Amino acid sequence: MTCNPLSRIAFGAVSMLALTAGSALADGEVNIYSYRQPELIQPLMDRFTEETGIKTNILFLDKGLVERIAAEGANSPADVILTVDIARLTEAKEGGVTQPLNDEDINKQIPAQYRDSEGNWFGLTTRGRVIYASKDRVSEDAITYEELADPKWKGRICMRDGQHSYNIGLFASMVAHHGAEYTEKWLAGLKQNLVKKPDGNDRSQAKAIFAGECDLGLANTYYLGLMKTNEKDPEEKDWAAAVKVLFPNSADRGTHVNISGMALAKNAPNKDNAVKLMEFLASDEAQTIYAEKVFEYPVGPHAKPSEIVAGFGAIKPDTLPLTEIAANRKIASELVDKVGLNEGPTQ
Ligand SMILES: [Fe+2]
Repeated sequence: MTCNPLSRIAFGAVSMLALTAGSALADGEVNIYSYRQPELIQPLMDRFTEETGIKTNILFLDKGLVERIAAEGANSPADVILTVDIARLTEAKEGGVTQPLNDEDINKQIPAQYRDSEGNWFGLTTRGRVIYASKDRVSEDAITYEELADPKWKGRICMRDGQHSYNIGLFASMVAHHGAEYTEKWLAGLKQNLVKKPDGNDRSQAKAIFAGECDLGLANTYYLGLMKTNEKDPEEKDWAAAVKVLFPNSADRGTHVNISGMALAKNAPNKDNAVKLMEFLASDEAQTIYAEKVFEYPVGPHAKPSEIVAGFGAIKPDTLPLTEIAANRKIASELVDKVGLNEGPTQ
């Protein structure tokens, strides 16, 4: 496919707006196609430019990133892709818009479980799929995912759409650990323990706990940090204050985590600069800045989570490689439909 000149113009217009300061000494540039909001990654990009003199251009997209790079073809300006969730990293690889990178520094820095086995993507931060539990009504301070199907929780659990990628990631990890037959029974048990049909987003689960509607909710760790610090909608601080975090399976295999990550674009025109950016983002320094900004956990061995995130308690991540989880997403999605999880409790 040939390059669409219009898309280049659009890219130029967006990148003009997103240009980082201090680019007078710029030593080339790097183009970032991002599903992550520019304000979340800008502090990192500023730091990168300061250290290397390389200018960063961010093109933010909320959908169609893979299709866009594919349509731009060999002349795509995309150098790197920044995104969240194993579903989207896999989609980029399978969509043929990435290229493998075998970089010693990155491989040393990022644990193998958070890297594509063929080098097409790697994780920068992790987020735990945890349980928000009512501080007032839940005395337990430990839980397992398996237990969510136990009738002792009947009428007490809330969650968002079972087909959302965050839940599919978790259910795929259940398939990987226990097999499809077990997972089907488990999902059927979870369904009967729900208070209502799955709805809302992750923050809604904290809101429902605050309102006394539910006692347990499935959600990602970082939303608690976002709610606790939400000056725009301070009511979210009340929702956050009503819940504590239970890290499932801390006593055995560990808590399911998903990642935010990045990939080298297939036809990266500024490949050397792209690799420099990737090495920078994999460093402890950059991961600490990033994790602090997004309330996630850095994956590097010496980078630390923010104080707020550390305050949730210690996370022990499940060490199952993300590629194995991704391989079970389809079957997990079929099981969600098979048991009718999104219909809510039926007995
Ligand atoms: Fe999210």
